[in-house]
This record gives sequence, structure tokens and C-alpha cells, in this order.
Amino acid sequence: MLTPADATTDGDATLLQPAQFRAALRSDVTRGLGASPKWLPPRWLYDPLGSELFEQITQLPEYYPTRTERAILTQCSPAVADITGARTLIELGSGSSDKTRLLLNALQERLPGITYAPVDVSASALAQAVAALSTDYPGLTMAPLVADFTTNLALPPLPGPRLLAFLGGTFGNLLPDERAVFLRSLRSRLAPGDRLLLGVDLVKDPDRIRAAYDDAAGVTASFSLNVLTMINRELKADFDLDAFEHVVLWDPQNEWIELRLRSRREQTVVLHDLGLHVRFAPGEDLRTEISAKFRPRRLADEMSKTGLEVTHWWTDPDRLYGLALVARDDDLTPPR
Ligand code: TRP
Repeated sequence: MLTPADATTDGDATLLQPAQFRAALRSDVTRGLGASPKWLPPRWLYDPLGSELFEQITQLPEYYPTRTERAILTQCSPAVADITGARTLIELGSGSSDKTRLLLNALQERLPGITYAPVDVSASALAQAVAALSTDYPGLTMAPLVADFTTNLALPPLPGPRLLAFLGGTFGNLLPDERAVFLRSLRSRLAPGDRLLLGVDLVKDPDRIRAAYDDAAGVTASFSLNVLTMINRELKADFDLDAFEHVVLWDPQNEWIELRLRSRREQTVVLHDLGLHVRFAPGEDLRTEISAKFRPRRLADEMSKTGLEVTHWWTDPDRLYGLALVARDDDLTPPR
């Protein structure tokens, strides 16, 4: 995120300037490590190495969400293109833009000359995705944006109707309050005919869910621990990675997975750039991520509470994962 290679990526497309990013990092780390319990917002997991590790996670045998979402997209993309008639695809948290190809193919088939606007916190992931797509989709207009849509949701004023894709279960990485804020701000920015395509992981056997976040090869552990490496580098800190353990908990009340880094012993970490000394008790946790799992009915309720409505719903035969097409509740007529 803050490496020189990132800072130079795609000048005008960059909404998040490195200086802003650094200020946000400093304030998030100061707040999060000063809080009790300690926590960090998930976006800091996605530095260049973190984004790469996440790509590896998506290919793990235990990690079912990516391949299930891809299977559903293969089925439903033509219908999504038909129903929305979208001229622009805006994707929040686009990462490698890999599954997006299914949507792009369907939209382009219906309407050649669409625009694709990928939005991601990781400039390196974005640059790689745009490079790969420009080779494979020579005629595609692209308008990439480096932005943190959880704190600043600015939808580019591109030709409508616009389809917003928010895939990969990233919606579930927001806390319920954050989701409500996000949905309200999204609603206020939807123009007539605009639609949201939302991918959510569904409630199922907790063992199956837990395994997806605690893979045997230890990739998820490296991914979670990498946030400490990033803080060491960016804020001159001295986290000892061997002194923290990757912990995955299923919270049955909230129906979410919690990822934590657990201090193996009593220790004090120094963050030189912040002039901060942070004490960890033995067994004390630092929460790096939640990943909420949904029930279709509750998702529909959550939407209607914020003035949105699920108009279409697709799932896989085992109901592991779901895709919802969502409209403003005052804009329910199909845009065509
Ligand atoms: N959106 C993904 C999810 O909730 C993010 C994710 C997958 C993730 N595996 C992770 C985040 C491991 C942190 C650690 O499934």
C-alpha cells in the first residue's frame, strides 16, 4: 500500500494519496492498539504481499467461497446483464478482477462498449488486474480507482445504468453498524436504474466455515500475521511474528468468524513512528477481521431497513453462498 511502486500507480485514477493513506494507518493503529479489546480494520491486510496471499487463499481447497461464487456467476451473469442492461460495471474491492470476467463477458455480449471501473484499496492488485484485462479485453474502457470505499464511497459518474458489484463476501467483513452506514450511503448514490450485485457467504456447518479460515497449509495464518510485518515496516515497529498465534473463532450469536492474533506471552511492542509502547498480556488477542455469514431472510431485512430491496437471488445447490441483486425500494421497475 505504501511502497514506492504503489505510490506511482496510475496517477489520475488514484483517489487515496499515499499521504492520506499513511495518516489513516497511523490513526487506525493508534486507535485500534489503544482499544480494549485490541483490533485493526481489515483493509490493512491488503498490502502488496497481503493481496497476493489473499489470491492464494481463494485457491485453497478449504476456501469454498471463491469457487462457489464463480459457479453461481457462471450461471447468473447473462440474467444479470439482461435484467440490469448496465452500461457501466463498478466493482468494489475488485482485487484480481478474476471472477469479474464472467460479468464483463455477459454485459459486453449484450452491449458492446461498456465501461469497467474497478475500485480497490490495493494499488498493486488494481494495477495488475488492469494490465491483465487490457490484454484480454482490448476494447474495454477502464476507469480504475484506488479508494477505501468503506470510509469514502464515491461512485464515478459513468454512463448509467450502472451495475455495482460487491463480491467475495467483503460485505461481511464490515460490522453490522458499518454495513448500515455503507448501505445508506450507497442508496443515496444510486441513480434510477442503478443496481447492486452483492455476494454473501451463508450460514452453514461451523466446522466447514472454520476450516475455510484456518487452512492446513497455513496460508491464512501468514495472511493474518502479515499485517504485523506491514506495521513493522511502515511505522518502524518491532512486532515479533513468532510471538503471535493465528486464531479463528466462530461466534454463534453473531454468526460471524473472528480472526485474531493471540499473544503467546507477556510482551511490549514498540511503534517508533508513533512513539507508542503497546503491552500485550499472555493470551491477549488482537482482532484483525470478522467475516459475517448471512441467512437470505435476514439479508433481505437488512436491505429493507436501509431502503433497499433484494429483487433477485441466486445460490448454489448446496446453499453455501448467495448472490443478491438489489435495487432502491423506490426504483423497482426494470431499467430496460
Ligand atoms: N472477504 C473474505 C472473506 O470474508 C476475506 C477473507 C478471506 C479473509 N479469508 C480471509 C480475511 C482470511 C482475513 C483473513 O471470506
